[in-house]
Amino acid sequence: MCRVYNSAPLPFMGQKRRFVRDFREVLKRFDDVTTIVDLFGGSGLLAHVAKRERPEARVIYNDYDYFCKRIEHVATTNRILARLRELLRDVPEMKRLPPELRREVLAVIAGYEREGYVDYPTLGSSLLFSGKWANDYEELASHTMYNCVKKSDYKVDGYLDGLEIVHRDYREIFAEHKDDARTLFLIDPPYLSTEVGAYKCYWKLRDYLDVLSLLVGTKYIYFTSEKSQIIELCEWLTENPMRANPFAGAEMRTQLNNINYDRLFTDIMLVKA
Ligand SMILES: C[S@@+](CC[C@H](N)C(=O)[O-])C[C@H]1O[C@@H](n2cnc3c(N)ncnc32)[C@H](O)[C@@H]1O
Repeated sequence: MCRVYNSAPLPFMGQKRRFVRDFREVLKRFDDVTTIVDLFGGSGLLAHVAKRERPEARVIYNDYDYFCKRIEHVATTNRILARLRELLRDVPEMKRLPPELRREVLAVIAGYEREGYVDYPTLGSSLLFSGKWANDYEELASHTMYNCVKKSDYKVDGYLDGLEIVHRDYREIFAEHKDDARTLFLIDPPYLSTEVGAYKCYWKLRDYLDVLSLLVGTKYIYFTSEKSQIIELCEWLTENPMRANPFAGAEMRTQLNNINYDRLFTDIMLVKA
């Protein structure tokens, strides 16, 4: 019997674990689909759940971040965590690491880095304050460290079983399947600004809006956040249809503004006489 996961077996920011129950329920409305394409697969959780719910369907997991590498190297990750548990045995849970232990922890990790693959997001979730993420050694080493090391090993058995794994830009995969009426698209694009830090790209409004064109004439399950205000924007555009860019022909002037030392933004003035 295949194990069914209700959350990704390794830490992944933005995974849709809170939606799993609803997702299972709405999937039942698509009994006619033969292919399910998870365009922004992330941790693969939606693809995993889809395959367990619909074993006969072809389920494509677009693993843009190579989450599968993290799964593949889980034994090394568990070995590193066992070393860390040993090193941190006298540090109470959630307490800050003293400088000498912090140095030792980083030395252990650097050793594994020299030997091969290190799963930094998982180590980050074992050593950093909740909400902080690390994608590489430098990021991990730049933060204060705490003892949040999980007491047991990570288990990932069978998580990716049955999935067709690809690593491509979502537009290419969409183009291949868009004309098949029996395809369901799972569309969970990166968040606009708040959560992009953990992903290897930065999504601007234009990127976000581009994804909307995928929704016309396809079967989809789309995810967004209230913060993106995309639903509000689409409703407004329906109530106030605009044929042309209202700023067309206006002159633009900009001023650089800094709120504090690391946050710069540009103020814009548009003038049309
Ligand atoms: C919000 S996450 C998806 C989370 C996923 N549904 C889950 O439950 O784990 C968005 C994902 O899209 C990926 N992504 C970014 N740009 C992409 C692109 N051009 N094509 C495909 N995926 C992309 C990000 O790296 C990130 O993994």
